[in-house]
Amino acid sequence: MIIHHDYSLLGHNTFGIEARCRRFIEYASLSELDEALKLLREEGETQFLHIGGGSNLLFTKDFDGTILHSAITGRETVADDGEHVELRVGAGENWDRLVEHCTAEGLHGLENLSLIPGEAGASAVQNIGAYGTEAGDFIVRVETVETATGRRRTFTNRECEYAYRHSIFKGKLAGHYIITHVTFGLHRTFAPDLGYAALRRELEARGISLASVTPTLLRELIVSIRQSKLPDPAVTGSAGSFFMNPVIPEERFRALQAQYPDLPHYPAAGGVKIPAGWLIEQCGWKGKRAGKAGVHDRQALVLINCGGATGADIVQLSDTIRRDVRERFGIEIRPEVYFV
Ligand code: EPU
Repeated sequence: MIIHHDYSLLGHNTFGIEARCRRFIEYASLSELDEALKLLREEGETQFLHIGGGSNLLFTKDFDGTILHSAITGRETVADDGEHVELRVGAGENWDRLVEHCTAEGLHGLENLSLIPGEAGASAVQNIGAYGTEAGDFIVRVETVETATGRRRTFTNRECEYAYRHSIFKGKLAGHYIITHVTFGLHRTFAPDLGYAALRRELEARGISLASVTPTLLRELIVSIRQSKLPDPAVTGSAGSFFMNPVIPEERFRALQAQYPDLPHYPAAGGVKIPAGWLIEQCGWKGKRAGKAGVHDRQALVLINCGGATGADIVQLSDTIRRDVRERFGIEIRPEVYFV
């Protein structure tokens, strides 16, 4: 177990915000996690937070408490019937290296989630998604430790309550369980999900027929689409999409569509999903800056750190954008990024 005191979180958030925490504990095994939780219980430490790769959070100030981070790694095949393979993965495994490994090993399903920053444990909390695929579609079970008691509990896929960018670990059980391992159910037969419009456009542009798409090619395509739209985390601080795409009632959508015939939209549970990036772009924010915070010039859903921004700078820009979208369209957009 590694313990740091008064520790900089700069290397633990992709926004590149300089914030500090009172203590940072990294554990590399279940027994080390047990030890860390015992320590927190004995001290009566109430302020603690578990983070993954820090790619979906925004530090708005220093954190006066303990931050926990998993360094539990490893990938093992726990079931294999020749077609379906269950791969059990440590929560601290890097997400994209996992996708790369699966693609190379002929274990299919996760290709569309290539290049998403973050770690395996957080994928099961956030239900990360891209290009028509969500992690929850492939998660079989999630192993956890209850923070209050140290007891182990395994959640089935159903118990995780997966929905768009949502799970029970973000919802009613937020903060109560720490994910130690995630088991993914993958296929040996490659049945690519090529339904997403941007993906089809890219295939067409490259003159590639749907039938000739290989796993490696699909991964390469996703990587190149992401690189063309999203900032490189090594160069520009961001947390990917800052807001969730709002779902609005059908009649509200029809009224808006009459006004904006080009309004992009997708069917969704409970109404119609509108890309928040489009709403933000319409409000004139794409590529704009407000001090050290800004809006990415190729994807308006992404707020960026233009260099030296504080969490408060980003929050201020987020509030202004939310207000502008509300005033212009009467639609409430909500951050998907977690504010600390
Ligand atoms: N659009 C604009 N202007 C913009 C951005 C988008 O008009 O500046 C419109 C366009 O009509 C475009 C549509 O929005 O066709 C959809 O854009 P895109 O395909 O980039 O997807 P998104 O809805 O903006 C979501 C996810 C991304 C994911 C992509 C691809 C959320 C919050 N975001 O973005 O996830 O990569 O789909 O599947 O659902 C992330 O969560 O960090 C993330 C990057």
